[in-house]
Amino acid sequence: MLSRLGFGTSGVMGAALTTSGRLKLLDTAWDAGIRHFDTAPLYGFGEAESLLGPFLRRRRDTITITTKFGLLPASVHPLARPLIPLARGVNRRLLPPLRRGVARLASRRSAAPGPQASSLLVPPPGAGAADPVAAPPAGRQPGVPSPADQRSAGPDTPYTPANLRQQLEQSLRKLQCDCIDYYLLHEAQAAYLQPPFLDTLDQLVAEGKIRHYGIGGGRWSSRCIVERFPQHPWVLQIPDTHTNDDTAWFAEHSAGPLFTHSALRLGREGAQQELGALLGPWAALRQRPVEDPALVAELLMALALSRNARGCVLFSSGHGDRIRANAALLQTLSTLDPPAQRWLQAAASASADAAAPHP
Ligand SMILES: NC(=O)c1ccc[n+]([C@@H]2O[C@H](COP(=O)([O-])OP(=O)(O)OC[C@H]3O[C@@H](n4cnc5c(N)ncnc54)[C@H](OP(=O)(O)O)[C@@H]3O)[C@@H](O)[C@H]2O)c1
Repeated sequence: MLSRLGFGTSGVMGAALTTSGRLKLLDTAWDAGIRHFDTAPLYGFGEAESLLGPFLRRRRDTITITTKFGLLPASVHPLARPLIPLARGVNRRLLPPLRRGVARLASRRSAAPGPQASSLLVPPPGAGAADPVAAPPAGRQPGVPSPADQRSAGPDTPYTPANLRQQLEQSLRKLQCDCIDYYLLHEAQAAYLQPPFLDTLDQLVAEGKIRHYGIGGGRWSSRCIVERFPQHPWVLQIPDTHTNDDTAWFAEHSAGPLFTHSALRLGREGAQQELGALLGPWAALRQRPVEDPALVAELLMALALSRNARGCVLFSSGHGDRIRANAALLQTLSTLDPPAQRWLQAAASASADAAAPHP
């Protein structure tokens, strides 16, 4: 059964914790009822998959898992490894103000801040790129190849059948399992995908090494791939915030659950005005003061769950209480009365009356 919330391991690896502290966060997510876990060879400088391995082995029959192909961490010299936690700490302090500055600049340049503003944000340490191609270049339609799309992937491409098999075997070893539920191409572009590589994906399904394959990348590049290779059953994983209005397209075209992510990270720094207009009604609905600092994250999660109503919303956190709060929200949403549910749906689909006060 599909877990409505999925726990991403990029944040766990970014948190300044010991291995047992990180494992405790995975247990917290499990105890809170989360049954989908998302990882990638890239996360945690290559350590996230190994962290999940023993956790997964004990619960394999009750958990679904996503890992990815294509992006690998830069190799770190053994002598520099002790510096990784220090680098994470510095990044965590420096990147948020930098991201806020870039978002402010982007929204000043754009009369109506939208996904373009989010696409300028810098990804956090350990995560994949935020959404490098969120919006189509001017004048282009999805599926219509640009000169860049038509270029071959080049001699150094990792997108070869041999690499695919080798990286998958490595992930299976680290994750201590014999089959991956969702194997996604990490930040792929249509130009990378040649017939032998695509055939190998189908063979891996037939061999029982993966259950589904798909794309974990930007909205625009994912859409290009789906439209260019419609014969393949792509499962989609995309960034999704309250500023996006085409999420339904991705839900319709995902050959499995749609996975959305980064609603909190990008949403908090995205269109603040729209968010501000929704916060009052949400506070009233929750019967809490609008100044309550927990309300923003709660609202962003509620909007994300409502927008991706039949799929799985991924989040990450290095804090147990936040993991529990995010999971508890599911229960809260199921108890909203019909007018409140209608308001949330309107707000989530960015409809014109979304900012109207809660009845
Ligand atoms: N396919 C791709 O290219 C791709 C790209 C990005 C992400 N992903 C996947 O999606 C997962 C989630 O994405 P993400 O980490 O970018 O986005 P996210 O979950 O929207 O944002 C994470 C941030 O939200 C904070 N947070 C979480 N719960 C909170 C709460 N209740 N209150 C306040 N703050 C809260 C976390 O802070 P604390 O840690 O301090 O709690 C962290 O800074 C990733 O781990 C990864 O698995 C995939």
